[in-house]
Amino acid sequence: PETGCLSIIVLGASGDLAKKKTFPALFHLHRQGFLESDVLHIFGYARSKMSDNEMRDRLRGYLTPCQGCEVLREEDVSKFMELIKYVSGSYDAEEGFLLLDKEISAVEDSTEGSSRRLFYFALPPSVYPPVCKMIKSFCMSKSDKGGWTRIVVEKPFGRDLDSAEALSTQIGELFDESQIYRIDHYLGKELVQNLLVLRFANRLFLPLWNHENISNVQIVFKEDFGTEGRGGYFNQYGIIRDILQNHLLQVLCLVAMEKPVSLKPEHIRDAKVKVLQSILPINDEEVVIGQYEGYKDDPTVPKDSNTPTFATMVLRIHNERWEGVPFILKAGKSLNSKKAEIRVQFKDVPGDIFKSKKLGRNEFVIRLQPSEAIYLKLTVKEPGLEMKTALSELDLSYRQRYQDVVIPEAYERLILDTIRGDQQHFVRRDELKVAWEIFTPYLHKIDKNEVHSVPYKPGSRGPVEADKLAEKVGYVQTHGYVWIPPT
Ligand code: BG6
Repeated sequence: PETGCLSIIVLGASGDLAKKKTFPALFHLHRQGFLESDVLHIFGYARSKMSDNEMRDRLRGYLTPCQGCEVLREEDVSKFMELIKYVSGSYDAEEGFLLLDKEISAVEDSTEGSSRRLFYFALPPSVYPPVCKMIKSFCMSKSDKGGWTRIVVEKPFGRDLDSAEALSTQIGELFDESQIYRIDHYLGKELVQNLLVLRFANRLFLPLWNHENISNVQIVFKEDFGTEGRGGYFNQYGIIRDILQNHLLQVLCLVAMEKPVSLKPEHIRDAKVKVLQSILPINDEEVVIGQYEGYKDDPTVPKDSNTPTFATMVLRIHNERWEGVPFILKAGKSLNSKKAEIRVQFKDVPGDIFKSKKLGRNEFVIRLQPSEAIYLKLTVKEPGLEMKTALSELDLSYRQRYQDVVIPEAYERLILDTIRGDQQHFVRRDELKVAWEIFTPYLHKIDKNEVHSVPYKPGSRGPVEADKLAEKVGYVQTHGYVWIPPT
């Protein structure tokens, strides 16, 4: 195991992402003993002038009790706060970074062993290049001590293929790919991580997982609230860049990829890239974009905005396994519910003698959130004297099955991976490039107003055209069964 100082530097420490996600995740990791407390130092860095204590006070309000605990223990909070220091400086001038390096070096000098520095960019991507330059010039881990420097970057990583590639090149000139951790927090979700196991550790699925048996796959993300205060930011990106190009596409890769050679991060990422490269160009006829009514009431959103807050899009994978199977990606804000799930719908039984088609089809559903669950819809005989069929389910609900197990937050797991140097759940440069290649032509059509977002009512299922599209490409609504999440 590595020894020596571990410095985690949160850049953009006073921003929303840092306060809501990064620091709370660090707090939980620390409380559970996953961070090496005796050699750990956390530095917040931002432009605002503040003392260490002011920074700590700002963070307090964002720390939540651990899962399964009712209250936040003051003892845990104060132990965590002791680790936090704050340095103020701008993102493109050397003084701040020189000061930061001085502070980090001071703690490193008092510890034996190597110097490990993890820079977490909770920053807008426009400042990634100058910040990378500053780190490279002034804040790299001390070579005489050994150790490493890693950077963790968040999306949006570019707006389209060209801007993303330009950003990748700028950063790539300063840091090696092995030092760059591109976060897609969906890859840190428990059930997304389970996909690899479900698919490749179960004999049951191996012969079924192909176009012979599967009719269609839906990957769905729904939120029951709008852009709330983020309108101005969201409007520059829209739902395709916000959710489909990263979160849903990453899930698609794990559902569709071939078995990786091994569990090594590079093998898994190679398998994902292959799927992405096999995706055909998007057909405009197989896209519906929408915008909820009232979105433009946000004063920060232009009145003529065409930015979609909803999109359904069919992706087609041109390979032996998936030819003809539509992958329906769907994401929307301000819809009728909040959930994220994968629905693998099987074809009808050939030569059916039970008329079971009327009830619906076999469907394998992986609910990512809320109430994580995996369930398989099956047609069975209804108990009783008559030979009646019914649609039922084999149901693995996590809350019931794993009652005492704490399911880690996506960010906790991913931050831990960055410290351990495991890049499996991070997006590699070539993966990112192909992901942008898939969506860029359509995104440019939206930007140029060549395609239009249709209005939908807040709190609805989204535009009716989207349901029609899913049905047209083969999705069949199942009847006679309503899954009630456990309380
Ligand atoms: C973020 C998007 O990446 O994911 C947000 O920018 C979205 O718009 C969020 O709300 C959803 O994450 P989760 O983990 O709550 O599903």
